[in-house]
Amino acid sequence: MKVTVVGAGAVGASCAEYIAIKDFASEVVLVDIKEGVAEGKAMDLMQTASLNGFDTKITGSTNDYSKTADSDIAVITSGIPRKPGMTREELIGINAGIVKSVTESLLAHSPNAIIIVVSNPMDTMTYLAHKVTDLPKNRIIGMGGALDSARFKYRLAEALGAPISDVDGMVIGGHSDTGMIPLTRLATRNSVPVSKFLSEERLNQVMEDTKVGGATLTKLLGTSAWYAPGAAVSAMVQAIACDQKKMFPCSCFLEGEYGLNDISIGVPAIIGRNGIEEIVEIELDEAEKAKLTSSAEAVSKTNGALSDILK
Ligand code: 2OP
Repeated sequence: MKVTVVGAGAVGASCAEYIAIKDFASEVVLVDIKEGVAEGKAMDLMQTASLNGFDTKITGSTNDYSKTADSDIAVITSGIPRKPGMTREELIGINAGIVKSVTESLLAHSPNAIIIVVSNPMDTMTYLAHKVTDLPKNRIIGMGGALDSARFKYRLAEALGAPISDVDGMVIGGHSDTGMIPLTRLATRNSVPVSKFLSEERLNQVMEDTKVGGATLTKLLGTSAWYAPGAAVSAMVQAIACDQKKMFPCSCFLEGEYGLNDISIGVPAIIGRNGIEEIVEIELDEAEKAKLTSSAEAVSKTNGALSDILK
């Protein structure tokens, strides 16, 4: 199993590290446009192999996509991250051109790869990858919901004073500060609805903290987060590589599901060897449906900025 990770910044390198530590892939190729960075990070990671006990071979390449040939899975993290105070949507001007050219270069060498898009604004970049490649919808997946759900579980565990392993929850909708929909109604503590333990006010606080999860970290770190994003991508890569049929909310291209069309947005999906193997349509209540509609409207509005690049 060969995995390419484009972008050897903090998210790409963390993703490569977690994939290697889990030891399910034979090879990870890191690619970056900056001379020597991918090679350097690959070498540094390889020097952890005997310490961390993995056999995955990690190599680096400065923009030479021939090294990525015949990848089974490709992750796109390229582009600029947001700075404190910026929204993900503000990155579109620069990142759209980068994501388009990276997607085309990847497919030229790995025509059968399943692509996971991480670059922001993620739902719009996932949509762009669909539009420029016209690949079947199972093969292009946006990573957002897996990360947002992990942040939701962190906030729930904190509010409950419970271990995270006791907590389950999911975030659907757009991967943006206003578009995320943490499904508090369905969240549980060991199968018991969290509303049994937390007041509506506390749950609303959990919801709000989850939605600004990325922004809170950007403010603290001065740049976008990387450990949880890297871990979320590596979990999705593992679900594909090991055909786990794991359910993640992720950005899927919709053709009528949830009443939405011609958009990539976060909904639950079964992820296995074929990428998105099934979009799971869960029953939403009226308030959740309304939130999903307005989240989709915001994503579509951002997609509108792609009109020049998609001409
Ligand atoms: C985040 O939320 C990278 O968008 C990503 O941290």
